Amino acid sequence: MTAAAGARVLDRGLAPERYARGWHCAGLADTFRDGRPHAIETFGAKLVVWQPAGADPDTFGVLDGYCRHMGGDLTQGQVKGDEVACPFHDWRWGADGRCKQIPYARRVPLRARTQRYETVVRNGQLLFWHDPEGSAADHDLLPPELPGVGTDAYTEWFWETVEIEGSHCRELIDNVVDMAHFYYVHFAFPTSFRNVFEGTRATQFMESKGRPDKAADAGGYSDVDMVLRSEATYYGPAYMINWLEVDYKGFVTEVILINCHLPTGPDSFTLQYGITVKKPEGLDDKTTQYIAKRYAEMFGSGFLQDVHIWQNKAPVQNPLLCEEDGPVYQLRRWYEQFYVDVADIAPDMVARFEFEVDTTKANEFWHEEVAENLRRREAEGVAG
Ligand code: FES
Ligand SMILES: [Fe+2]
Repeated sequence: MTAAAGARVLDRGLAPERYARGWHCAGLADTFRDGRPHAIETFGAKLVVWQPAGADPDTFGVLDGYCRHMGGDLTQGQVKGDEVACPFHDWRWGADGRCKQIPYARRVPLRARTQRYETVVRNGQLLFWHDPEGSAADHDLLPPELPGVGTDAYTEWFWETVEIEGSHCRELIDNVVDMAHFYYVHFAFPTSFRNVFEGTRATQFMESKGRPDKAADAGGYSDVDMVLRSEATYYGPAYMINWLEVDYKGFVTEVILINCHLPTGPDSFTLQYGITVKKPEGLDDKTTQYIAKRYAEMFGSGFLQDVHIWQNKAPVQNPLLCEEDGPVYQLRRWYEQFYVDVADIAPDMVARFEFEVDTTKANEFWHEEVAENLRRREAEGVAG
């Protein structure tokens, strides 16, 4: 194919071969507390997760899923005491990655060790550290503890998992700076929009209102009676906390949304999201649960709107941008720090960077367009 003179060439690039360094979330810690080994597909591999029998409730083992003896699948084994036992010849592996026992052998070979991952339970979720360079876990980079979450002040987590095929997880990250897609994809007016990147964190501050030309059940944030004030921070490459104030006809609810993912292959990932809602004063538990479930469905439908775009779009290394698009290139530079060796992190990947998108022109246009849609609908309604 020859390009017409002056036509911009869309550079699809190649998906990176390595996986990001940082804390990743395996899911709710409770999922792994049943005394059985569990499988997690990630980083092009399979990990085994289990809880050692004698351990305190927040201690877990996470190892490469394949036994170093003859490659048995540890996720199909059993938990025996503190160890995970391989289904092939019953070698016992400890949470520290060492082979502790071979019941039929006189002794365990020296240096019988496998790949292990350090874990932390935070806000009821099991996080583990991944670094292709094999560094020790950096606890300074953990997401913060959320005061009140896990107590009676908040609902339990609503937790969902979605497999995404055919997209690199950078598509998800790009959303951090994407003001305009809130109107087109999520059916809301983004009235204010600002980003701050610094160190291993990237934040989006946003306010939005629903579009009155979309039915309240159009999904996403389209409800016209709803104003959202949102602050969303990525703590590293794969784990975001989104603090939301949802103002529904003057009734304000505090919602915390977790958006995290595990890359599974070069162009696939597992998206997980969780919702917890601060129980409003004077509301009974049943009503609160109902509200939390509704918000979980709403944000869930919002993710699916993004997923549809990702699964059909092309990857683009050289997006062609206008002023209202926000700092896509700076965000991607920030994201690159997780894909290079620590020694190669450049100052501009981690420097503080702040940018506010001027949403004036966009909202003027969008309000006219919405008004026109409403006029047309009314005319059609009258005619029909
Ligand atoms: S392959 Fe695991 S014990 Fe032999
Ligand atoms: Fe989105």
